[in-house]
Amino acid sequence: MKKKKGKWDTLDGILNEIWSMLKRGVTHFNDPFHWPVLGTTGKSGCSLRTVILRQLILPDRILVCHTDDRATKVQEICNSNKVSWLFYHPESKVQLRISGQAKLHTDDKFADDQWAATKIASRFNYCATQPPGTPIDKPSSGLPDFLLNKIPTLLETERGRKNFMAIACRIDSIDWLMLRALGHRRARFDWDENRLSATWLIP
Ligand SMILES: Cc1cc2nc3c(=O)[nH]c(=O)nc-3n(C[C@H](O)[C@H](O)[C@H](O)COP(=O)(O)O)c2cc1C
Repeated sequence: MKKKKGKWDTLDGILNEIWSMLKRGVTHFNDPFHWPVLGTTGKSGCSLRTVILRQLILPDRILVCHTDDRATKVQEICNSNKVSWLFYHPESKVQLRISGQAKLHTDDKFADDQWAATKIASRFNYCATQPPGTPIDKPSSGLPDFLLNKIPTLLETERGRKNFMAIACRIDSIDWLMLRALGHRRARFDWDENRLSATWLIP
């Protein structure tokens, strides 16, 4: 009898699984896909940092994360909007290497909608008086005194809005790798506008 094909046996099945894993990463804070690494091109070459995956927009293939618009990565994206993402799921042993083009949103409906969906705890991240990366004399969160040692109101955290930025990255390609004791599997998905080409690769 012929063995039924599993979700990892077809390129379509894998792409569906990739979208599911990314969607789960958005909604589950303890899922490994919640904390990908975002790569940009910096002064000394490749520049990497952990970010939180905030949204996956389909069918547009857009990954969204948030940042302070004074952060170094923002300048780097202004210099080159080609960015990379690295995801690894230790349980599934699945690695995704994603590349795409980033768009920065500060004063538009997209940024307003993203800001409206943020929680108070996240809004703290954009309330520092000085830009991220500013050298200081002693350890400090950089938050103004009135935000420290109490739970601020939603209104008080509105001061973070002026520093808030959403980074939206349109996916151009995904390199998928799954480790298995009986043989690893690897595949690549490339989009030219909305035309997809997919192929298996030697791992
Ligand atoms: C678990 C974790 C999640 C993080 N999430 C974000 C994030 O969503 N956005 C962000 O700008 N920085 C985030 N950071 C901080 C960045 O890794 C980085 O230190 C900071 O953004 C400065 O990076 P830059 O100087 O390259 O701009 C996170 C750090 C950790 C450890």
